[in-house]
Amino acid sequence: MKASVPKRIGLLTCGGDCPGLNAVIRAVTKTAINEYDIEVVGFQDGFQGMVENRYVNLTKDYVSGILTQGGTILGTTNHITPFNYPVLEGGKTVFKDRSEQAISNYESLGLEVLLCIGGDGTMTVAKMLEERGLTVAGIPKTIDNDLFGTDRTFGFDSALTTATEAIDKIHTTAQSHHRVMIVEVMGRYAGWLALESSIAGGGDIVLIPEIPFEIDSINETIKERRYDGKRFSILVVGEGAKPKGGELVVQRNVPGSPEPLRLGGIGNKVADMIEQEINVETRVTTLGHLVRGGIPTPADRLLATRFGVEAVYLIAKRKFGRMVALQGQEIVSVPIEEVGGRTRVVPLDSSIIRTARSVGMSLGD
Ligand code: F6P
Repeated sequence: MKASVPKRIGLLTCGGDCPGLNAVIRAVTKTAINEYDIEVVGFQDGFQGMVENRYVNLTKDYVSGILTQGGTILGTTNHITPFNYPVLEGGKTVFKDRSEQAISNYESLGLEVLLCIGGDGTMTVAKMLEERGLTVAGIPKTIDNDLFGTDRTFGFDSALTTATEAIDKIHTTAQSHHRVMIVEVMGRYAGWLALESSIAGGGDIVLIPEIPFEIDSINETIKERRYDGKRFSILVVGEGAKPKGGELVVQRNVPGSPEPLRLGGIGNKVADMIEQEINVETRVTTLGHLVRGGIPTPADRLLATRFGVEAVYLIAKRKFGRMVALQGQEIVSVPIEEVGGRTRVVPLDSSIIRTARSVGMSLGD
C-alpha cells in the first residue's frame, strides 16, 4: 500500500532572522496546498509560540505578497527553546523544560510533521524533539552561511550584498581622509561573510575567525600601502576574529539561548592596536544587524523558494528527519542529526582563501 501524504503540518522560523524567511514560508504554503492539499500551521515566534500555542493558519491569501519582504511574518526568537523555557519564579527567571507542552500542542493541532526553518541551534532542538517522538524536517537559513551539510544558506547572499555596499561607501571616505577604515561584520565563528564581502568590496586586509591574526602583520600591510602611495586602507573583520593566542571579544551573554555568547567589538580593539603602534588615524563601522535587514536579493528569494518547495516534496514522500541542502547546483537532503552542533567554517585550503591572497589581500597572518 502506498504511504499517505501528511494532511497537516506545522512550520516555524527560529533563530536570528534573515532576508528570505518569508519567501520560504510562501513557498512551503503554496506547494503544500497546490500540490498535495496539505494544511499548514505557522507557529509564531519560533519554538516559543509552539510552547505557548500561538499559531496562524497559513493560507495562500495569508502568504500573498510576502516574497520580497525582509524578516519573518511569523516572528522568531533566538533565545527560547522548549527545553530551556524562561519562567518567572520568586522574581527570578529560571529555565524549565516545557517540551511536553510543545509536543502536546503539536498533537492537539493534529500536526503530522514540524518543519523547522533555522540554523544550527534550531536543528539541534528539532533533533531533540524528534527523539521525543515528533516527526521533523528542516530548512537551513542564516546570514552566517555556517550550517553543516549545505554549501549555502539563504540569507547569506542578502547579507553579503549589504556588507559589500557598505564597504563600497566606506572606500570613498577612507580615500578622502587617508584613514584606515575598519568594517566589522557578523558571522559568529565562521568568516564567510567577512571574507566574501572583503573580496567583493576590494578590502585590503580581512580578519576571519579561522585565521588568528598578528597585529604586526596588519601594520606592515598598512605601512607598505602608504609607502606605495595608497594612504588609506580598508580592513574587514569578522566578529569572531581574534589575535594569535588572544581571546574572542564577547559583547553579551544571553541565558537560555542555544548559543549564549553574542560576539562584537573586535573592530575597536584592532583600531586601538593600529593607532597605538603606527599612529595612523583609524575609524570603525560595525554593521551589526543591518546585514540581517532589508529585502532578500533575487539569489536568496530563489534559494529560499527552491528549499521550501523541496522540503514539501520530502514531507509528501514521508522522508522525515532530514534538512534540505544545496550541494553544488542541486537541492539534496541530509539527516538533521548530522547538522546540529557543528559549524561549517572556511577551510584553510579553500579556493576562496587563495583567491583573497592572490589579489593581494592580507589575512593578517
Ligand atoms: O546567527 C546570526 C547572527 O546574526 C550572528 O551573525 C550574530 O553573531 C548573532 O546572530 C547576533 O544575535 P542577536 O540577534 O541575538 O544579537
